[in-house]
Amino acid sequence: MLSLRAVKVFLMNLYTSVQELALELDKQRKNNNTMCLVPTMGSLHEGHYSLVHKALKVSGTVWVSIFVNPTQFNDNNDFVNYPKNLKKDIKILTDISKNIKIFAPSTKEIYGENIKPQKFDFGYIGEVMEGKFRKDHFNGVATIVTKLLALFKPNFVFFGEKDFQQILIVQKIIDESFHRTNLIRCETIRNKNGLALSSRNKLLNKEDYNNSNIIHNMLVFSKKNLMKIPYQKIKTHITSEINKVKNYKVEYFEIRDEKTLFEIKKNSINEGLRAFISVNVNGVRLIDNYLLN
Ligand code: PAF
Repeated sequence: MLSLRAVKVFLMNLYTSVQELALELDKQRKNNNTMCLVPTMGSLHEGHYSLVHKALKVSGTVWVSIFVNPTQFNDNNDFVNYPKNLKKDIKILTDISKNIKIFAPSTKEIYGENIKPQKFDFGYIGEVMEGKFRKDHFNGVATIVTKLLALFKPNFVFFGEKDFQQILIVQKIIDESFHRTNLIRCETIRNKNGLALSSRNKLLNKEDYNNSNIIHNMLVFSKKNLMKIPYQKIKTHITSEINKVKNYKVEYFEIRDEKTLFEIKKNSINEGLRAFISVNVNGVRLIDNYLLN
């Protein structure tokens, strides 16, 4: 149950209409407030809280957007099943700080009747890994992120490194069109098994959840063996170890340069190499990445 004070803060700080939001943002700009935005799809967890806490250190008022963006889901089942809990999210944010403002629009408010992604060309960084396995995913992400950046014109936006490829895509959007915005990368938050926190983890059954330490173990294995075992053997070993776990199926495991996303051809001591992985667990996609050197 929310206290009366919490209900008041809750209503005062919740915006669902673009028009009301725009008025409030104008007011804030007139007061020269530093604008911080944490874009989310809700179903908030410790990973999101860490972004919010970082943002609160930068500005007195932090905006959190909560919007499950339909155009970035290449699989309708994934969209339908995506965990949603707006009331709980609002309560959590209100409890973290009364200085958090929430933008939680409806799909109609954002897209009207035209629920389609715009087309973007991000070149190679948009074509590999998530770009290859999730057709139109980055078009959908870029569509909503562009809309949010245009609305908020934030000085700072906060993104978690779990979605590392997404960070590169958003940085590209910022470099091309939103020069006053700084993207703050925040490190991946993990549970005690090393599983990267994600709203989708809530969809795992108990057994699948308990087995998830294999992913982090294999990322650590790749780091330890980068210069000891030939790259192709590391790939085969990791794929076969994970595929041995009931319900676990590797979609990709690749080591790539973290700036260009070019895959290494053989073992290398170059700086900025990152292992990227996607595992399908009983229909739930878990992605992660790990800096190797
Ligand atoms: O990372 C997410 O939660 C989403 O992709 C984002 C950036 C909020 C866009 O919908």
